[in-house]
Amino acid sequence: MLPHTLFIGQQLYFLPVCESTNSEAYQLLIKNEAIEGCTIVAAHQTRGRGQRGNSWEAEPGKNVTLSVILSPSFLMARQQFYLNMAVSLAVLDLLREQGLPEAQVKWPNDLYFQDKKLGGILIENSINSYKIQHSIVGIGLNVNQLQFESPTATSMARELGRVLDMESVTERLLELLEKRYLQLRNGHTGQLRHAYLQALYRYQEVHAYIADNQQVQGQIVGVDEDGRLAVEIENQLRYFSFKEIAYCI
Ligand code: BTN
Repeated sequence: MLPHTLFIGQQLYFLPVCESTNSEAYQLLIKNEAIEGCTIVAAHQTRGRGQRGNSWEAEPGKNVTLSVILSPSFLMARQQFYLNMAVSLAVLDLLREQGLPEAQVKWPNDLYFQDKKLGGILIENSINSYKIQHSIVGIGLNVNQLQFESPTATSMARELGRVLDMESVTERLLELLEKRYLQLRNGHTGQLRHAYLQALYRYQEVHAYIADNQQVQGQIVGVDEDGRLAVEIENQLRYFSFKEIAYCI
């Protein structure tokens, strides 16, 4: 497998099994053995990590679990959510291209298809004097797995009704990731923000949320420079960081 890219995936490690591709990427970084775009793909992660200290479970050989090392030193630390936008959009580009045009991004890190989770993103940054030095971009995407413990999880194969070729899905994802990353590197943050909002789950719809330990009705109206979710609640515009607001199903 070699994607048609300039740098993402040009240094490629395929691991039949590892604990976590993000942890493997970190080891390569500290040993100074990675060039920008270095990608670690695993068939099976034994200790896959998710957001909020959760684990990430994926049936071996049936899902994309990979990490890409990037050096977005052009981004200030406080702009780190732009990388999240670019990565989310890349996964979304893939889902749409493969025949799931209704796929959406659920702020802050999830890929959704009709109220079900298709994938997630875990970006770990190292910051050096206000700038991002390195980012480890971890992507977990449910591709061919058909059974899940969680009733709110799904996969591409389940929604498309066909089995996908893992190698071409992975290759294409890396190509689309590079495209979105270059868009970010070239300063097109306005375009990224616009595309992100257009693809945002529950954007401009009224739904129930838990904020300040209370159930409220709110409408997502945007995402600010710091990546906080802007929600209008009782005619008041409020901004929430990760963990400060929860979606009610
Ligand atoms: C989430 O939704 O909580 C984020 C899940 C991120 C999972 C991916 S799988 C590849 C990479 N390695 C990890 O250990 N985690 C990320």
